Amino acid sequence: MKSLRSRLLRGGWVVTPEQIIQADVLIQGEWIAAVGPHLDAGQAEVIDAYGLYILPGLIDAHVHLREPGAEHKEDITSGTRAALAGGCTTVLDMPNSPHPTTTLAAFAEKAHLVQRKACCDVGLFFGATPENAKEAAQAHEAVGLKLYMGSSTGQLLVSSLASQFEHFRLFPRERPLAVHAEDEEAVAALSSVGRRPGACAEIAVAKAIALARLTRRRLHICHVSTAVELGAIALARRQGVAVSCEVTPHHLFLTHEAERTLDALAHMNPPLRTPADQEALWQHLDEIDIVASDHAPHTLAEKRAPSPPAGVPGLETTLPLLLNAVTEGRLTLGAVVRLMAERPARLFSLARKGRVAPGFSADLVLVDLNAKATLGQKLYTKCGWTPFAGMTVTGKVQRVLLRGADAVVAGEVLAEPGWGRLVEPS
Ligand code: DOR
Ligand code: ZN
Ligand code: ZN
Repeated sequence: MKSLRSRLLRGGWVVTPEQIIQADVLIQGEWIAAVGPHLDAGQAEVIDAYGLYILPGLIDAHVHLREPGAEHKEDITSGTRAALAGGCTTVLDMPNSPHPTTTLAAFAEKAHLVQRKACCDVGLFFGATPENAKEAAQAHEAVGLKLYMGSSTGQLLVSSLASQFEHFRLFPRERPLAVHAEDEEAVAALSSVGRRPGACAEIAVAKAIALARLTRRRLHICHVSTAVELGAIALARRQGVAVSCEVTPHHLFLTHEAERTLDALAHMNPPLRTPADQEALWQHLDEIDIVASDHAPHTLAEKRAPSPPAGVPGLETTLPLLLNAVTEGRLTLGAVVRLMAERPARLFSLARKGRVAPGFSADLVLVDLNAKATLGQKLYTKCGWTPFAGMTVTGKVQRVLLRGADAVVAGEVLAEPGWGRLVEPS
């Protein structure tokens, strides 16, 4: 029998949501075999991790890989390389590509593309349309259903209460139904020159919570951006509604004031908000389930055109921004692990992912909290830009392991197409 490759990470600081301990991590083949002080290396290859923090491979639960149909912006290979460069070993892909993931056949085609082209693991959302509620309910390999209550990039939109209700009723109730919560009627009535006020999101969140309560089902609210949304979600939870929520790095680290300098490069749905809303997200981080990038790449030429599309890339900047916030004392490394590994694994039922512990997949990120980096200097995303370009941060991804193999070393992505697997909810 071929012996499994074993590797030992020696002396790093292992981070879980609960604690940070100095420990060795023994990897056997694809799996973490042991975590503890002074482990016996035996035949294992020893990797020096002294002074580094060891995080579980991050799970970015909101990513637009753009394939099939918009490969000029991003494709599965370039997007998953960007993910790895940013410390993410798993991404969950959104269905709103030009050939949307809204039929079981389209889902199967995309799954096939992932198996051929992905460098990190990928789970797929199924997309809701006004007509496909029955078919969507059969998408058992999807990590969840994505429903656009308001229009955004692409054609996906389920704006009528009747069709929304059908999806809420029919999609398996214990599985996440994720909403882009901006209400289409409110968008039409309230938007001025492309800017959607917070009320569009707040009305949609109230509707989605009401539907989840009526149908007694799970609900996930994407990219929460206002204090009122947060308040409604907290209240619903106290009343027993199974609602989870997510915030993006751009809503955490930018406000609408950035639009003055960045112009269309700071344009996304939902848009950047006031400093008071931004502050509310930070104040209530404990009640937020996950941070997800909403990586939504568009080319610079598209962004500079007269009607620029909404969306910003985020895969390569999310972890560095969070690490920088850790060095500034704004959150803990344990919170980063909760928000980007442990909780997304749990919400989307990704077995044996999201924790540095025996029996879990050896998806690991080694982080140097003393190293400085300038964002945007080197990017793997095909779109080639970031709204955070030029910002100096403290905290850097040093190495990334995917199933025990070196996926990133010294800032270079080594993983190849075929390394990534399609992940399904367990
Ligand atoms: O800004 C956005 N961009 N919001 C979305 O909902 C979609 C995304 C995209 O796909 O470009
Ligand atoms: Zn969205
Ligand atoms: Zn999105």
